[in-house]
Amino acid sequence: MAKCLVKIFFFCSLFVVISGAGDTLPANQAFAINDTIVSADGVFELGFFSPGSSKNLYLSIRYKKASQITAWLANRDAPLTDALGRLTLSSQGSLEIFDGRDTKIWSTNSTKALKNPVAQLLNTGNLVIRAADDPDPGHYLWKSFDFPDNTLVPGMKIGKNLEDGIVWSFNSWKSTDDPSLGNFQVKLDITGYPQLILFNGSSTLIRIGPWNGDRFSGIPSSGPNNIFRDEFAITGDEIYYKYEIVDNSVLIRTTIEPDGRVIRYTWTRESNVWKATIFLQPDYCDDYARCGANGICNVNTLCRCSEGFQPKNADAWKSLNFSEGCILASKLNCSVRDEFVPRPNMKWPDTRNSSYDLSMNLGDCKKKCLENCSCTAYAYANNTEKGGGCLFWFGALIDIRDQEQSGLGFYVRGRDDLPLFDFRTIANATNNFSDGNKLGQGGFGPVYKAILEDGQEVAVKRRSTCSTQGIEEFGNEVSCIAKLQHRNLVRLLGWSTTEEGERLLVYEYMPNKSLDYFIFGDMKQRASLDWPKRYKIINGIAKGLLYLHEDSRLRVIHRDLKASNILLDYNMDPKISDFGMARSFGDTETEANTARVVGTYGYMAPEYAIEGAFSVKSDVYSFGVLVIEILSGKKSRFFNHPGHNLNLIGHAWTSYNEDRLSELIDVSIPKTSDRSEVFRVFQIGLLCVQQYPEDRPNMSSVLMMLTSKVSLPHPKQPGFFIERKFDKAYNSSRKYEADSVNSIIDSSSSNQTITIVSPR
Ligand SMILES: *[C@@H]1O[C@H](CO)[C@@H](O)[C@H](O)[C@H]1NC(C)=O
Ligand SMILES: *[C@@H]1O[C@H](CO)[C@@H](O)[C@H](O)[C@H]1NC(C)=O
Ligand SMILES: *[C@@H]1O[C@H](CO)[C@@H](O)[C@H](O)[C@H]1NC(C)=O
Ligand SMILES: *[C@@H]1O[C@H](CO)[C@@H](O)[C@H](O)[C@H]1NC(C)=O
Ligand SMILES: *[C@@H]1O[C@H](CO)[C@@H](O)[C@H](O)[C@H]1NC(C)=O
Ligand SMILES: *[C@@H]1O[C@H](CO)[C@@H](O)[C@H](O)[C@H]1NC(C)=O
Ligand SMILES: *[C@@H]1O[C@H](CO)[C@@H](O)[C@H](O)[C@H]1NC(C)=O
Ligand SMILES: *[C@@H]1O[C@H](CO)[C@@H](O)[C@H](O)[C@H]1NC(C)=O
Ligand SMILES: *[C@@H]1O[C@H](CO)[C@@H](O)[C@H](O)[C@H]1NC(C)=O
Ligand SMILES: *[C@@H]1O[C@H](CO)[C@@H](O)[C@H](O)[C@H]1NC(C)=O
Ligand SMILES: *[C@@H]1O[C@H](CO)[C@@H](O)[C@H](O)[C@H]1NC(C)=O
Ligand SMILES: *[C@@H]1O[C@H](CO)[C@@H](O)[C@H](O)[C@H]1NC(C)=O
Repeated sequence: MAKCLVKIFFFCSLFVVISGAGDTLPANQAFAINDTIVSADGVFELGFFSPGSSKNLYLSIRYKKASQITAWLANRDAPLTDALGRLTLSSQGSLEIFDGRDTKIWSTNSTKALKNPVAQLLNTGNLVIRAADDPDPGHYLWKSFDFPDNTLVPGMKIGKNLEDGIVWSFNSWKSTDDPSLGNFQVKLDITGYPQLILFNGSSTLIRIGPWNGDRFSGIPSSGPNNIFRDEFAITGDEIYYKYEIVDNSVLIRTTIEPDGRVIRYTWTRESNVWKATIFLQPDYCDDYARCGANGICNVNTLCRCSEGFQPKNADAWKSLNFSEGCILASKLNCSVRDEFVPRPNMKWPDTRNSSYDLSMNLGDCKKKCLENCSCTAYAYANNTEKGGGCLFWFGALIDIRDQEQSGLGFYVRGRDDLPLFDFRTIANATNNFSDGNKLGQGGFGPVYKAILEDGQEVAVKRRSTCSTQGIEEFGNEVSCIAKLQHRNLVRLLGWSTTEEGERLLVYEYMPNKSLDYFIFGDMKQRASLDWPKRYKIINGIAKGLLYLHEDSRLRVIHRDLKASNILLDYNMDPKISDFGMARSFGDTETEANTARVVGTYGYMAPEYAIEGAFSVKSDVYSFGVLVIEILSGKKSRFFNHPGHNLNLIGHAWTSYNEDRLSELIDVSIPKTSDRSEVFRVFQIGLLCVQQYPEDRPNMSSVLMMLTSKVSLPHPKQPGFFIERKFDKAYNSSRKYEADSVNSIIDSSSSNQTITIVSPR
């Protein structure tokens, strides 16, 4: 009873004290549940309030007029449940809440002591404890802004004070009626380059992203505006994000709601309501790491792999489970020649495994990243205080998405995209395209040998000015081959262009020339290819073609398979080259039609040369011609027989029919070779040159026939049986395309690739 009396006395004296004090609370003055102090400008008030329908009392700061919304709350986990509680500021400068039984239920736990302390509610909504005679903010003993609740008001920081270790983060309430700690938290993660993350419990829900110059990389709308000014700083003492109001007629707060939504609200006197302006509106791609490692999310097309990567689990990927992400399509060594590809409209990857150096010059970012093979990307940190600095990513890039207006881009190591070489360096490495370096004439221009600065030998294909290869073909070849990786395909290492129209392709160097050099060469050259070598070459070509047709992601039709396009490596393994006219197919497409027929006489399937219809089966036809050439040592195009006017294909079929194939086999193939194998391969070749595409096997059947002993069907009469007849029909129904250079191709002597426009 005595206790009660004492309290009543306190309440009486309090009224007087508080009403006179305005925005401050002196030490040892009781502050009861009905008392308030109000900031000098009248915007905020401090008192014991009950949120929503709750009956519990919480020491809170709320907007006095603006709908009495709570801006800060002290004892979220220790509510006051009886009307006899109170707040006091101790003589040491500690704010304390006592319940009706005089039990201390909450305290600021100030460890230092102050003489003559006061608590003051500032106009910013910051409740501070300071010495009554010392208003210096640097000397505050305690401030509520160090302990954000669920609302970030202007001036409040989110981040970390590196001096005292205080982490500024804000947390959701359990519900609108229960302000105790909810599931969601927004935190500035500073493991690597600082980034804002919305957590659900301990798991990353949404990465709001790193600050990249003028906005959060994950929030396009977070750019500069007229109402508030963002500020992000990394100093020796603290790392933080905050925003300051620019337009003083507006109140603004950012609140993390109990359901995890982060909403920015604005209030104006005229409207007198809090208007939600969504700060973070999550979509499909905001789900953290939606597309897994090295996957890129797009709200319309969902997930895709970064260039040079492929799904780790193709089946799961097809069924739209992207969680396992993407892995490198082929293991390539990193090199000092790697390029960096800008990613301008993408959210920066997760920076938790990144490092940064703000003292670095922007120009050094790329160089530094290049030096370390595990550095996969870099960006200009462009810290607003210094304007410089570099940020580096290591390992897999996680949580990337397409996003317009994402601010500064980042740069991904181009081992996957194709390196762009400096034209002058390459030109110099070919001795300025000297004849001495010339390796030969490719489909669309000369090919030179070059030795790069590090000693690597490469082949450089130059699109000569009078070449028929247009920009379309060039782009096609570059993007097409870059994605194709197989041991029987020539690997494209890079490319180069100039504004003057020079175009270079840089390939791996093949020391042993091309197949035509051997099979159509002198006796010595021919003899160096014994039967096992030829058999290996045929198998290799078949495997390369099968990869193009069926196994590569792109499904490619080569359209110009011929002996001079088969290059030979150190081990005389064949590699298919010259993809200038290759066409990539959709998954369901099996055949297409073109108005531009490209290819080489003697290798073109009838339906392609005459109708412009190409398919994997037109490649199979060319393969068949090639097989017959390899076995006979005779050129399809220039075949002439004194006894008849059949072409090579017709002659081979007749020989097969009349059982005189052995006469056609190249004399340089030793008689001791496995003749039955030679005949079998001959027969496979003939099956490939059947007149109708449907009669030709596909490449997987061809490979099976080559490598097993399955019995073979008898070939029917091939297409283009009689050369002369074909030429006549051909000349009357086609005209040659005069390409950009208006060069007329002399069909009677050309063994080169031609382009014909179909008169459709
Ligand atoms: C607080 O104010 C309410 C309403 O004016 C009143 O009913 C209540 O008795 C007051 N409580 C105290 C402890 O003064
Ligand atoms: C003050 O310290 C007590 C006891 O250690 C603790 O339970 C309480 O959470 C602390 N209060 C604050 C506001 O940190
Ligand atoms: C947050 O996590 C909880 C528990 O893991 C889960 O039930 C809930 O759906 C999650 N909420 C969101 C918005 O992801
Ligand atoms: C997706 O795949 C991962 C790993 O393969 C698996 O753990 C997860 O359950 C799958 N998710 C769905 C929705 O099937
Ligand atoms: C990568 O480099 C290592 C060491 O230099 C070498 O042994 C390996 O063969 C290289 N791999 C490729 C694919 O070039
Ligand atoms: C960071 O690296 C570790 C170790 O390699 C890896 O397990 C983790 O997934 C990486 N995290 C991110 C966000 O890249
Ligand atoms: C490359 O960077 C990683 C991560 O910072 C580091 O651990 C490694 O030592 C660096 N390697 C070299 C060769 O500098
Ligand atoms: C860095 O930021 C400054 C100021 O915002 C801007 O002027 C400059 O262009 C930025 N630098 C880069 C490389 O984006
Ligand atoms: C040009 O090539 C020569 C050797 O052919 C080499 O010594 C020189 O350094 C190269 N110059 C440049 C600029 O690459
Ligand atoms: C190639 O030409 C450039 C410019 O004309 C010249 O500077 C360079 O020395 C030449 N390089 C070689 C290897 O001849
Ligand atoms: C293939 O190239 C290697 C290396 O240049 C050479 O040793 C070998 O003799 C060549 N083979 C043929 C058949 O020319
Ligand atoms: C075409 O092949 C013939 C016979 O091998 C050869 O004489 C001629 O020089 C070649 N023409 C071209 C343009 O390469």
